[in-house]
Amino acid sequence: MWTPLLFLLVSWQVVAQVPLPEPPFLPQNASAGASPSSGGIPNPQWSSLLGNLLYFYEAQRSGKLPSAKRVKWRNDSALTDGQDVKLDLTGGYYDAGDYIKCTFPLSFTVMSICWGATDFGKGYDLANQTPYLDDMLRWSLNWLIKAHAANNTLFVQIANGDNAYWGGDQGIPSPRPSYQINDTSPGTDAAAGTAAAFAACSNLYANRIFSNSYSGPATLQNATYAATLLEHAQQLFTFATNASGGLRVYQNSVPEAGKAYASSGYGDELAMAALFLSWATNSSSLYQQAQGYWQQYGLSNYNGVFNWDEKTPGLPVLFAQIAQANPSFGGNASTWQTVAEKYFDGIVYGSGPGYQTHGGLLYYDGDSNDASLNPALNAAMLLTRYVPLASTQSKKNDYWNYAKAQVNYALGNNPMQAPYIVGANPNSPQNPHSALASGGNNISNINTSPAQEAYILYGAVVGGPDKYDRFFDIRGDWPETEAALDYNAPMLTLAAMHVLNDTVDPFYTSLKAGAYDSKKPQGMPCDAAYTEGCGGPQLSEGGQIALGAILGLTGLTIFSLLAWWGMLSLKGQHELLY
Ligand SMILES: *[C@@H]1O[C@H](CO)[C@@H](O)[C@H](O)[C@H]1NC(C)=O
Ligand SMILES: *[C@@H]1O[C@H](CO)[C@@H](O)[C@H](O)[C@H]1NC(C)=O
Ligand SMILES: *[C@@H]1O[C@H](CO)[C@@H](O)[C@H](O)[C@H]1NC(C)=O
Ligand SMILES: *[C@@H]1O[C@H](CO)[C@@H](O)[C@H](O)[C@H]1NC(C)=O
Ligand SMILES: *[C@@H]1O[C@H](CO)[C@@H](O)[C@H](O)[C@H]1NC(C)=O
Ligand SMILES: *[C@@H]1O[C@H](CO)[C@@H](O)[C@H](O)[C@H]1NC(C)=O
Ligand SMILES: *[C@@H]1O[C@H](CO)[C@@H](O)[C@H](O)[C@H]1NC(C)=O
Ligand SMILES: *[C@@H]1O[C@H](CO)[C@@H](O)[C@H](O)[C@H]1NC(C)=O
Ligand SMILES: *[C@@H]1O[C@H](CO)[C@@H](O)[C@H](O)[C@H]1NC(C)=O
Ligand SMILES: *[C@@H]1O[C@H](CO)[C@@H](O)[C@H](O)[C@H]1NC(C)=O
Repeated sequence: MWTPLLFLLVSWQVVAQVPLPEPPFLPQNASAGASPSSGGIPNPQWSSLLGNLLYFYEAQRSGKLPSAKRVKWRNDSALTDGQDVKLDLTGGYYDAGDYIKCTFPLSFTVMSICWGATDFGKGYDLANQTPYLDDMLRWSLNWLIKAHAANNTLFVQIANGDNAYWGGDQGIPSPRPSYQINDTSPGTDAAAGTAAAFAACSNLYANRIFSNSYSGPATLQNATYAATLLEHAQQLFTFATNASGGLRVYQNSVPEAGKAYASSGYGDELAMAALFLSWATNSSSLYQQAQGYWQQYGLSNYNGVFNWDEKTPGLPVLFAQIAQANPSFGGNASTWQTVAEKYFDGIVYGSGPGYQTHGGLLYYDGDSNDASLNPALNAAMLLTRYVPLASTQSKKNDYWNYAKAQVNYALGNNPMQAPYIVGANPNSPQNPHSALASGGNNISNINTSPAQEAYILYGAVVGGPDKYDRFFDIRGDWPETEAALDYNAPMLTLAAMHVLNDTVDPFYTSLKAGAYDSKKPQGMPCDAAYTEGCGGPQLSEGGQIALGAILGLTGLTIFSLLAWWGMLSLKGQHELLY
């Protein structure tokens, strides 16, 4: 009885509020990214980039696709997800280069995008991308609503990596088990992180404005939807804080989820959920509660990266934004400014754990060893958002310039002269690690079969170069070439801001034809997928790739693999579990 009803409700909601344009926006041939635009605001090159970044998410969709799908080479897939638990858990997004669906990084991605679309939302409007933003968010949120199957039940992963499957969307292996947290086997981080996503998006759909320092929300206001999202946020926050199983990291309840996305703690998610909820409900007590979590979990001691696991660096910014927007909450904006600036100064003036590579990429040993662009772009995104709040003009300038340099690096101002976004320019990566796009079905021949990737995964931000700024455009090299939901998130917010604010093209329009080909490194990389370039112990290529496909996404897994192989000695920052 429950299942069909839920299905009906959700099918209804899939209808996007904002009508999609006709004809649809479609990415242009990469060669268009080599033609400088006439400039102006909105700059057409930044608008196209924003469109492509959103289009990537459409390529990652799971479930029954709408007849008006833009990514013609994608098919309906994984249509029996949830059957093992008698629920409809179809839909949502494939997490990265393979076919699992993961709630923890998805909810981070959605939180990040909604927060960005609240501050710089008019950039989506100007670029005519708001309908696609709405569509992308609803595809995510409507699946998270299904995954939140009861007040105290949240599905945190669908399918596992037990089959090292490399192939198209028609041969995805079964079974695809559904993994849940619940009242007796809770996951404080996953529940609170999802609550934060629902609350952040509720604020966006409610058209709540922080302050005039920002452009304000994208125009997709819908009070009904905002109320639905808020209800889920509140229930999940109650689940996170009051489950009878107590407080714990979610992989303690669902060990399978710890293989790719183990969480290092839940204090940051609790604080973030309480903060977004305080703003959504005009509750000073939730704001005070968030400040309590900040103290209780010693979050001020953290000075590492911002990502799907670690939300801490975003908190002082959000504390300050909300303190400014709601003086009645009793938050001291200037105290939070001080905290935020201590962290940002560590990045910008080089006293934190991150440093710049020779070519200028912000790099954290350990966290940047795979998907190096992710820490850098997340820092750029937070810095850019913080600029209007910075205490002095010189900090405003320095933060802005630092963030801009990271963005420029990602878009081609780097020693490889490669923009690290697929299909943006002829120098972009040609071989993203994506089972969907590759067209291959033999993992042992991942790099050569087929010789050319079958489909262009437009708009995908790839992992990025190594710490020597070398980028190997090798399909099997997932630390450098994989695409993932969370990799695109900071770039979306940054692109929306540049649409609003930047008359100058993204860096790549100035790159020469064949620039990457003339710079690309010889030989093989030295990382968690390939050791050929290290001269160290070697697994067979097939063995490594199978491991990569099974486990290889982001974060902790990589540390443990590397430690296990003893190839490199790494200082992981995420090893302490509460
Ligand atoms: C608002 O969203 C709800 C829920 O998705 C939807 O049913 C409704 O049609 C939307 N309202 C408008 C005016 O588009
Ligand atoms: C893009 O344009 C180039 C140059 O005109 C052409 O060689 C190439 O085949 C085009 N690619 C696609 C995918 O259409
Ligand atoms: C979708 O189906 C078509 C037709 O069978 C196939 O050519 C295409 O490769 C499939 N797409 C993916 C991503 O597997
Ligand atoms: C609660 O979650 C645990 C861990 O996923 C699972 O083993 C258990 O079966 C779940 N309980 C119910 C009633 O579904
Ligand atoms: C679920 O939570 C709502 C409050 O959001 C509450 O009204 C309802 O009673 C709860 N349902 C159950 C079964 O506990
Ligand atoms: C948790 O339970 C306590 C005690 O019943 C209650 O006062 C509190 O409001 C609950 N917290 C949430 C977030 O629902
Ligand atoms: C928020 O709460 C304060 C104090 O409780 C009240 O003065 C203010 O009007 C409320 N704001 C909104 C938007 O409801
Ligand atoms: C905020 O904190 C600062 C110290 O960081 C203090 O000087 C100031 O008086 C406080 N402001 C308010 C309104 O409490
Ligand atoms: C897959 O590639 C390996 C390595 O080249 C080859 O030995 C094997 O025959 C291929 N398998 C199939 C089914 O083509
Ligand atoms: C863009 O924003 C930055 C930071 O607020 C500001 O310094 C710059 O002048 C703005 N540029 C334009 C063209 O509005």
